[in-house]
Amino acid sequence: MRFTILTENRESNCNCINEDGLSIYIELENKKILLDAGITDAFMKNAKVLGIDLQEIDKIVLSHGHWDHGNGLKYINLKKTLILHPDAYTKRYSLLRNMAFGGINQTREELKEKFDLIETKEPYQIFENVWFLGQINRRFEVPKENAHTVLENNEKDYLYDDTGIVVKLEKGIVVFSSCSHSGINNIIEQAKEVTRDDRILAVVGGFHLKKLNEYTNKIIEYFSSNNIKVAYMGHCTSDEVIQEFKNKLKGTTKVTTLYAGAKFEI
Ligand SMILES: [Fe+2]
Ligand SMILES: [Fe+2]
Repeated sequence: MRFTILTENRESNCNCINEDGLSIYIELENKKILLDAGITDAFMKNAKVLGIDLQEIDKIVLSHGHWDHGNGLKYINLKKTLILHPDAYTKRYSLLRNMAFGGINQTREELKEKFDLIETKEPYQIFENVWFLGQINRRFEVPKENAHTVLENNEKDYLYDDTGIVVKLEKGIVVFSSCSHSGINNIIEQAKEVTRDDRILAVVGGFHLKKLNEYTNKIIEYFSSNNIKVAYMGHCTSDEVIQEFKNKLKGTTKVTTLYAGAKFEI
C-alpha cells in the first residue's frame, strides 16, 4: 500500500502548500481513501502537483470534527461516501484561538446533501481489509493538553468523535490516526481488537504530543513494548517529541517525520 500526505503542518520539498491541518490519501491495490481534507483546498492543489486524481477516491473518512481536518471537505464536489462519527458536527470553540469556531464549517444537512453519509460510533468495515475504528475505548488516559476546544455551553469537549482507520496487510496492520485526541495508544489497541492482529507494521498521523513529559514517555514505552516497526509522525506532534521518539526507540521503531507532499510505501 501507499499513502501520500496531501497537506500537513510541515513544509514540503515539492511545491506543495503546507497548512496547520492534515489530509492523507491512502492507496490500496484497487481502492483509494481520503482521510481528512485539511483547512482549505490546499489538499486538492497539492494532489494536482503530485499527479493524484482525486476523482478516483472510493471513500472519504473524517477522523473528527475539528476545523483543521474537516473544513477542506467544503471544496470537494464529488458524490462519494463520507464516513464519520455522529458527534463530528458538534459545535466547539477553540480556547487557543480566542474562542473561534473550532468545529467544521458545514452542517450535517449540508454534508448530507453533498455526500452519502455513514455515521457510526461502532467500528465500520470500509473494505475487505480496512476499518473505520468508531468511537475509541479509552482504556488509557488521553493526552494532557487535549482540552483545546469547549462546547457551546462552555463545558469541556471530550472529543469522543476522534477516531482513525486501520488497514490489515499480510504482515500486520497499519494504523492511521489524524489527531489522537483519544490517545494514540487507545486507538492502536482498538485497531488490534478490530483486526484481531497485534503485529503493528506502522502508525501514521498526528499523535497529539507536544511536550516531553510523563505522558509522552508512556506513549514511547507503549511503542516499544508493542514492537511497532515504523512511526510516521506529524501534524500535532512537536519536533522535540519526534526527536525523543528517535532517541528512545533507536533500533526498535523507525521514526519518520511527515510533511506536505511526502509519499510512503509499506
Ligand atoms: Fe488536528
Ligand atoms: Fe483535532
